[in-house]
Amino acid sequence: MLEEFYNQIKDCNKCSLGKTRTNFVFGTGNKNADIVFVGEAPGFYEDRQGIPFVGSAGKLLDKLLNLIGLNRDDIYIANVLKCRPPQNRDPNSDEIELCKPYLLKQIEIIKPRAICTLGNFATRVILEKNVNISRVRGQCFNMDKYFVFPIYHPAAALHQSTNLSALKEDFLKLKDILDSSSKEEEIEEPVQTALF
Ligand code: URA
Repeated sequence: MLEEFYNQIKDCNKCSLGKTRTNFVFGTGNKNADIVFVGEAPGFYEDRQGIPFVGSAGKLLDKLLNLIGLNRDDIYIANVLKCRPPQNRDPNSDEIELCKPYLLKQIEIIKPRAICTLGNFATRVILEKNVNISRVRGQCFNMDKYFVFPIYHPAAALHQSTNLSALKEDFLKLKDILDSSSKEEEIEEPVQTALF
C-alpha cells in the first residue's frame, strides 16, 4: 500500500522543488510502526541518497532512538516536504500546503499509535496550530487516531547543549508513554482471550 502510494507520487512536480531535487525523499522504516517521526525537509545528504535523516541530525536521531532501545527498523520516518529546498532554506507555506497531503496519507496507511514531531514545521502541520516548539515540547497531545509528541528538531541540538538535554529528557518521557500505553493494550487482551 505504501509502495503503491510512493509510485503514485514519486514524480511530483506540484511545486518548484521538483525541478531542483536530486531525489524525491518519500520516507523510510517499518511500515507497521507504532510510531512515526516527522521531520522538516530533506537536506543535502537526504536529497543525494533519497533517504530521510542520513546527515548529522539523523546520526543524532539514531543515538537518541538507541537511548530508548529503538532503532530505524522499529519506527517510520518521513518529512513534511519530500524535496529539498535550495540551500536548506525554510519550507514556504505553498510548499507545505501542497506536500502535506502526502504525509497525511502516509500516516493514514501506517496507522501509528504515536507521532513524534521534530521541530516547529512538523509540529504545526500535525497539530494544525501555529504553536512554538519550545512551549509544547515534551507534552502529549491526544488526537482522534493517535497521540502527538512534539520534540526539538535534532539539528537544533547539534550545537546547543541545553536543547540536547531537553531532547534526551523528552525521549525518555516518550519511552515511558509508549511503555505504559502498550501495557494498557496488554491488559485489555487477556480478557478477550479468556472467553475462549
Ligand atoms: N532534517 C529534516 O528535517 N529532515 C531530514 O530528512 C534531514 C534533516
